[in-house]
Amino acid sequence: MTPRYTIARPELGEPEWQAVRDVIESGWVTQGPKVVEFERAVADYCGAAHGVAVSSCTAALHLSLVCAGVGPGDEVIVPSMSFIATANAVVHAGATPVFAEVDPLTYNLDLADTESRITSRTRAIMAAHQLGLPVDIDSFTALADRHGLSFIEDAACAIGSSYRDAPIGSHSAFVCFSFHPRKLVTTGDGGMILTSSSEHAARLRRLRHHGMTVSDLDRHQAADIVRESYDEVGFNYRLTDLQAAVGIEQLRRLPGIVAGRRELAAAYDEALGGHEVIGTPVVPADMSWNVQTYAVRLAGFDATRRDEVMRLLLQDGIATRSGVMTAHRERAYTHGRAPVPLPRSEVASDTSIALPLHGGMTEADCREVAGALVRAVDAS
Ligand SMILES: Cc1ncc(COP(=O)(O)O)c(C=O)c1O
Repeated sequence: MTPRYTIARPELGEPEWQAVRDVIESGWVTQGPKVVEFERAVADYCGAAHGVAVSSCTAALHLSLVCAGVGPGDEVIVPSMSFIATANAVVHAGATPVFAEVDPLTYNLDLADTESRITSRTRAIMAAHQLGLPVDIDSFTALADRHGLSFIEDAACAIGSSYRDAPIGSHSAFVCFSFHPRKLVTTGDGGMILTSSSEHAARLRRLRHHGMTVSDLDRHQAADIVRESYDEVGFNYRLTDLQAAVGIEQLRRLPGIVAGRRELAAAYDEALGGHEVIGTPVVPADMSWNVQTYAVRLAGFDATRRDEVMRLLLQDGIATRSGVMTAHRERAYTHGRAPVPLPRSEVASDTSIALPLHGGMTEADCREVAGALVRAVDAS
């Protein structure tokens, strides 16, 4: 049975229908003019010099690592408490993810713990803006610079958030967005790398398209025949024009989507604030949050009691998710051995619950969900 309150619901409608129809009628459906338009629109919105669209954020992270020169024998420091794609991208690049702790209040990578894990093999730090809340970019950039490392932003969830009054996307050499349907801008699936460097942008464009030196669009528009070449092994990480056309319409909606989500978050904050067990999200000064996911902390709980709360809510017609997973405890990374403990990340992960939040909800709905959560917490 579908719950009354789903965890998320993308905001798609007539403009997206029309945009897809136009692309179909144009006869050009894979990466082409709409991808170029979408890249420019996202880069302009976020104050970045270049946007390179790809098929997912995982692809964006992988290509960023390749472009940063990360490869076999290298280590990349990542949060364990993140969707597993953060760590997987490092493995895709042939390198080793080194898991660091997060701040239990913001769920973002801990600076001191990250520094303590830097070795002679470390090549990059990849920090996620977890649940859309920006990490302290300036401090991580300074740390990376001090040690001669690349800094890559996993901004999968963070389109529409800002750090120190500048949009996420405008700060670093590699900022990677996701356009999966749980994100504020969706293309079904998809991703983009924003970069300040024209050299990186050019290489990323080649790498996403089999390493080809000339795009299909450029060949199509050329007055003479164009012979492409392949200087390195690339990938097929293209976004299609069908997806980009949807993305362009989604981006127009973004300011309204962010404003709506902030209102719903404020309703949750008000209904849950002051509860002795339920901790509401903490937004540090200097950060502006897009509220991609509203997750609460259950003080003193463990994963079993947290899951019981989720079960009671589901019986009440309310879908929730455990806030953020930890990668280091998954078999993909334990390799059959006991995981190296990351106690702060484990407690943070085991006590978090993401609540329903999407444009189909009202503030009254949030108050109803909050009431059900309080009853479930009291009963578990
Ligand atoms: C922090 C983080 N990084 C990476 C990803 C992967 O994004 P995609 O599904 O677009 O590859 C996600 C997806 O939820 C995410 O939350």
